[in-house]
Amino acid sequence: MKLKIGNLELKSNIILAPMAGFSDTSFRQTVRNFSKHCLVCTEMISSEALMWNKSQDICQAEKIEKPISYQLSGHKVDLMTKGALKIEPLADIIDINMGCPVAKIVKNQDGSALMKNPQLAFDIVKEIKSVIKKPLSIKMRLGFDNNSKNYLEFAQKMEDAGADMITVHGRTRSQMYSGEVDYNAIKEIKNTVSIPIIANGDITSLEKAIQVLEITNADGIMIGRGAIGQPELIYRIEHFLKTGEILPELSLKERINILISHLNLELKYYREPINALKFMRKFYAHYIREVRGASQYREKLVKAENFDEIFSILEEISNTNN
Ligand SMILES: Cc1cc2nc3c(=O)[nH]c(=O)nc-3n(C[C@H](O)[C@H](O)[C@H](O)COP(=O)(O)O)c2cc1C
Repeated sequence: MKLKIGNLELKSNIILAPMAGFSDTSFRQTVRNFSKHCLVCTEMISSEALMWNKSQDICQAEKIEKPISYQLSGHKVDLMTKGALKIEPLADIIDINMGCPVAKIVKNQDGSALMKNPQLAFDIVKEIKSVIKKPLSIKMRLGFDNNSKNYLEFAQKMEDAGADMITVHGRTRSQMYSGEVDYNAIKEIKNTVSIPIIANGDITSLEKAIQVLEITNADGIMIGRGAIGQPELIYRIEHFLKTGEILPELSLKERINILISHLNLELKYYREPINALKFMRKFYAHYIREVRGASQYREKLVKAENFDEIFSILEEISNTNN
């Protein structure tokens, strides 16, 4: 259950993944309301944007979110180092994005493009490590594509450069977010390096979490999409690992109440209700996926233009799914 990353000792080995466009402070706080100890991660923060002070919103976090990891993206050693120094006072740990597959990011030589340039990745980690005191982790994939799976050499190089932990999304860049996750490859990495290894990819239930921990023998797991609409998942896994007890699933009423408190948090940070409503549109389908007639309700929620409309749709969902 515990996880030691450099000089940082965590009471939980489950981590909430960085997810651009999803894991803002409100979402992280929604997860934190259940799990008091899991590490949560910010969305990736561009080292370039950071230098131009264009990242205030994305850097926003509250004390209750701690322990929190700030994730940096970029590829220029000097900018990445300056960026790391800038966010170090906010962070408990800094993470480097070496896994993002999005074309715009890769074209810029950032994210998973770094897996094609292990020496540059090495230089970035080594240089940042030489200036910061907080732990430094990296997040990688298995390689760029099926013909260039360099995960073992790459992970070893990151350890040699001074990384304190590695999270592995068990896919290549060309797989993007679908296709099979290779948990055996994550196990190979675990058997190769001595720093903590975190397994990531398609962990969406307690059963899958237990299975992945068993297959990979990883020091922990990271959960992304599985926590969207299920912010209690990390806590359920932690509770099982600690006690062996399987907590009952949340009732629909409880899940709807979580949706409402998530929405209220978004409102607090967005201030303009319409912006909070727009941001929440991508979450509705996930919160109500178990509901009868989910797709029709989702459509109504997405079209709603004020909170009263949202509340009356949620009430209708509760009443018709009793
Ligand atoms: C919408 C979305 C945004 C993401 N943004 C980031 C990001 O900013 N940084 C990062 O390292 N990974 C990002 N990822 C990848 C996730 O952190 C994670 O590695 C991936 O989704 C696989 O885990 P999962 O199956 O548990 O979601 C993102 C994934 C999604 C779906």
